[in-house]
Amino acid sequence: MFLKPREFAVLGNPVEHSLSPIIHQQFAQQFDHAITYSRQRLEVETFAPYVRDFFAAGGGGLNITVPFKVLAHDCADWLDISAQQAAAANTLVFGANGLEAWNTDGVGLINDLTERCNLVLAAKKILILGAGGAAQGIIGPLLDCAPASLTVANRTRAKAAELVSRTLLFYPLADIRAQSLQEIADSQQRFDLIINSTSLGLDGGDVTVSPELAVGAFCYDLSYGAAAVFARWAQRAGASGVADGLGMLVEQAAFSYKIWFGVKPQTAKVYQLLAERLNSRD
Ligand code: ATR
Repeated sequence: MFLKPREFAVLGNPVEHSLSPIIHQQFAQQFDHAITYSRQRLEVETFAPYVRDFFAAGGGGLNITVPFKVLAHDCADWLDISAQQAAAANTLVFGANGLEAWNTDGVGLINDLTERCNLVLAAKKILILGAGGAAQGIIGPLLDCAPASLTVANRTRAKAAELVSRTLLFYPLADIRAQSLQEIADSQQRFDLIINSTSLGLDGGDVTVSPELAVGAFCYDLSYGAAAVFARWAQRAGASGVADGLGMLVEQAAFSYKIWFGVKPQTAKVYQLLAERLNSRD
């Protein structure tokens, strides 16, 4: 019997460099699922109509990337707790509750940190650099791992304070603090894990904290490829371990796949394939 492939897509702008089509085709091969997976570059005005028409035509599921994650959250009929906490969504599906929105970024990061990087997060001191959308997507799942403390440091301190206040609504007992990057630079504080969520690698900025901060810490950069400026900085600065966000990219995709198909793909070989591809471009 011939089965028509189910349609999937990633929506973003820009979206041309998204690795999601390769990742999901690799996942689909593991289960013999027939899928198509395309990249769609949209504008703010065309986003909601595209989503509606896509699912009305029987589309299987959507991934959402920058800059539409908040919009995806806002146009959903039903929000998983992950999307509620993040106030943003990266996965959409049409289900029993209508248009359902999830955010698999945080759980993808945790899986990469604990499974591939072999870190234990409980009772650890964690520092997040940056307080934008990317930080908001990972903060809840990090707190679920019961760290000793979580500090959010941002160039603009008020944005870190705002993110912390919002997070305390969901986690009133968490030890979570806001600081400026300058305060971090001036202090002698030490952290077990430092996660870069800033977009400094994309806007051509430099890492402005002291290299001493990285010494003995595991440093994780949510960016990958050429944009992973922080990971390369941490390597030079003497971090105890360094990873870029490629692993998180693959893991978040695996959780999206599970939402759509009810089965979770293997990720190790797909990670390896993409790492080799990116290395051969350098
Ligand atoms: P994203 O969704 O990727 O998090 P965003 O919401 O625009 O993007 O947030 C970008 C984050 O990177 C912010 O925390 C920003 O700091 P400010 O709030 O002070 O703007 C941070 N950022 C961007 N460029 C930076 C740089 N060169 N140095 C330090 N932080 C930077």
